[in-house]
Amino acid sequence: MLDWSEPATPALTPAARKPQMTKAPTLPADSTGLGEIERGGARVSVDDKRMINCRADVNQLLPLKYRWAWEKYLAGCNNHWMPTEVSTQADIALWKSRDGLTEDERRAIKRNLGFFAASESLVANNIVLAIYRHLTNPECRQYLLRQAFEEAVHTHTFQYIVESLGLDEGELFNMYREVPSITDKAAWALKHTQSLDDADFKTGTPATDQAFLRDLVAFYVVFEGMWFYTGFAQILSLGRRNKMVGIAEQYQYILRDESIHLNFGIDVINQIKVENPYLWNKAFQDEVRGMLKDAAELEAAYGRDTMPRGFLGLNAALCESYMHFIANRRCAQLGLAPVFKETENPFPWMSEAMDLKKEKNFFETRVIEYQNGGALSWE
Ligand SMILES: [Fe+2]
Ligand SMILES: [Fe+2]
Repeated sequence: MLDWSEPATPALTPAARKPQMTKAPTLPADSTGLGEIERGGARVSVDDKRMINCRADVNQLLPLKYRWAWEKYLAGCNNHWMPTEVSTQADIALWKSRDGLTEDERRAIKRNLGFFAASESLVANNIVLAIYRHLTNPECRQYLLRQAFEEAVHTHTFQYIVESLGLDEGELFNMYREVPSITDKAAWALKHTQSLDDADFKTGTPATDQAFLRDLVAFYVVFEGMWFYTGFAQILSLGRRNKMVGIAEQYQYILRDESIHLNFGIDVINQIKVENPYLWNKAFQDEVRGMLKDAAELEAAYGRDTMPRGFLGLNAALCESYMHFIANRRCAQLGLAPVFKETENPFPWMSEAMDLKKEKNFFETRVIEYQNGGALSWE
């Protein structure tokens, strides 16, 4: 069973919270940690550690500065699971039965799986090839290494589902290039990481630091923190009605991982804001709010495409409302004004079971609830 009564978020150290730079820094000496060794270099002082543009040695985990990042690493390890531990026998029987699922349900399930199958890889590639390089703090990198493995486990889940149900591999994994409403979402996110893809890209100027923040918003807040959530709601809604229960259980495990990924991303962004307040100006805040609004509209289009008629209490309009609710929640977590008018959560069972309970992040200085191993409880 999940134990929701887990440890409190660690205390906030004054050094971690106070604004530390008021103007753009000079370029860091060695942000990769792979440069020449500074023989006899001074020991790392915790005050020299920074989220970006760090000048402390990135190869030294201790002394810890950002204990919240280390705690998330430990929580991720405690949540370890593998997709093959979940039985898909009931799903296989239902999928192969003639009248167990409607055509609308089959379409929604396939598109949902197709969206996630490639998205897990996009997120993983962004972590390893873009974020890891520019986040110059060893405890955050420790978490990124754990997260990268979890994304591999998630991709494995979709391989396992394809194999179990006997689905067409190409249809699912190539869907992000064939179904426009899915392509549009992936293309939108990739647009925000393209500048980091340039071999010469370096943080260290306001423009490049903001480019890095855009990447964090697009992938952590939008991809993992908004789009995945409607995907989870679709499958968990079926699971609540006793359909595709194996896949629904796997999605619960993925959601548990993703809620920590999201909170890590929010904490990273908020800590970068604290250390570099000049980056988070009014124009940039408006831009981020615009990104969240655009992302919600892309999701609404995907919802209409995935569920043209709706089924079992789930339809495109409800998913759009849910996206507005989630977008406003993400704005609040980033300290931004809401982008949509106040919206009721149309899927309170999502919040009650696993959403808001686990979304208390470091900057809200409340409890993050983790499990200590073992099985999930089914709400
Ligand atoms: Fe994932
Ligand atoms: Fe993730």
